[in-house]
Amino acid sequence: MTDRHLIVLTVNGSEHEAVVEPRKTLLDVLRHDLGLTGAHAGCEHGVCGACTVLVDGEPVRACLVFAVQAEDADIRTVESLGRDGELADLQQAFREHHGLQCGFCTPGFLMLAEGFLAQQPDADRDEIREAVSANLCRCTGYQTIVDAIAATAARRRDTEKEATK
Ligand code: FES
Ligand code: FES
Repeated sequence: MTDRHLIVLTVNGSEHEAVVEPRKTLLDVLRHDLGLTGAHAGCEHGVCGACTVLVDGEPVRACLVFAVQAEDADIRTVESLGRDGELADLQQAFREHHGLQCGFCTPGFLMLAEGFLAQQPDADRDEIREAVSANLCRCTGYQTIVDAIAATAARRRDTEKEATK
């Protein structure tokens, strides 16, 4: 008989139960058990980054993590961005700067950038370029993705300055 475990995952602020085999990846549980299909299955072996989610604030490839390892962690998927049908600032910037074409890689880039900017809000363009080199995009040539992330960082800094005036 297959060994299965009841696990509780905290995803986007809500707890979800799932009964899973220990070998099932976090990506598969998010997509198939919880219906959160924003994280995409690309290479499924840690190369492309299309499956990137935040685990305790760190960008992580969900195809390389077993779901049972993610219990007790705070998981955020691309579905956590934006509220009430409104795009988040980062999503809006990707739209304005044409940071996506086919869009397959986009959820991964958004969560990579969300985690990166939380850790490095003052990142310059070179640092952003290095960060996004972790993920693969076959369409955009990366410049527009860097533009979108740099614009978001600048906007967030301006908003913070305004708030502290
Ligand atoms: S699907 Fe996870 S890195 Fe490609
Ligand atoms: S927009 Fe098509 S792979 Fe990135």
